[in-house]
Amino acid sequence: MSTTPAGAGPGPPPFWRRVLLLGFMGAGKSTLGPLLAEALGWAFVDGDAELVRRSGVSVPEWFRVRGEAAFRREEAAITRELLGKEHVVLAPGGGWAAMPGALEAVPPGTARVWLRVSAEEAVRRANAGGEARPLLAGPDPVGRARELLKRRESYYARADFTVDVDGRTPTELIMAITEWLRTSSW
Ligand code: S3P
Repeated sequence: MSTTPAGAGPGPPPFWRRVLLLGFMGAGKSTLGPLLAEALGWAFVDGDAELVRRSGVSVPEWFRVRGEAAFRREEAAITRELLGKEHVVLAPGGGWAAMPGALEAVPPGTARVWLRVSAEEAVRRANAGGEARPLLAGPDPVGRARELLKRRESYYARADFTVDVDGRTPTELIMAITEWLRTSSW
């Protein structure tokens, strides 16, 4: 017989059915997502990777050729579909949450976790990673990131749980999130 009290130790949380990672570009959604999924014994789905896989078109190409509005429609449709899954960690792109109606359509049982990053750190990470971010291209990426963050903060702030990611290791962040998941309910 197990002596582990309910809700403690590794494994899936007792109440939540899925986790939705919210946060700006460079917040670490695609890095922490798989680690969190592994800790919970769940699957991980990166919304943008899924969009690129299905369409065969990269994110910069979507923006350049088809336009941001078309990208947002596709992103919304895929995320809506993914939100129907259970036992999954989902990471839509950083702009998804600020689209009209996006957060309203999140089903019950979804733990919305905001990975809060500063504009400076977001740009540092975005530059370090291999992935191109069309919205941060241009002469003043930090200024642009600040401006976008300001517009989006009230959406991200609707999360059920917020963790500040600047200066914290993935291990620390996963511990904080899993601890919260196991001790909270919807
Ligand atoms: C965007 C974020 C990107 C990607 C696209 C637009 C945004 O995803 O969807 O470049 O508007 O914040 P990540 O948050 O995974 O970088």
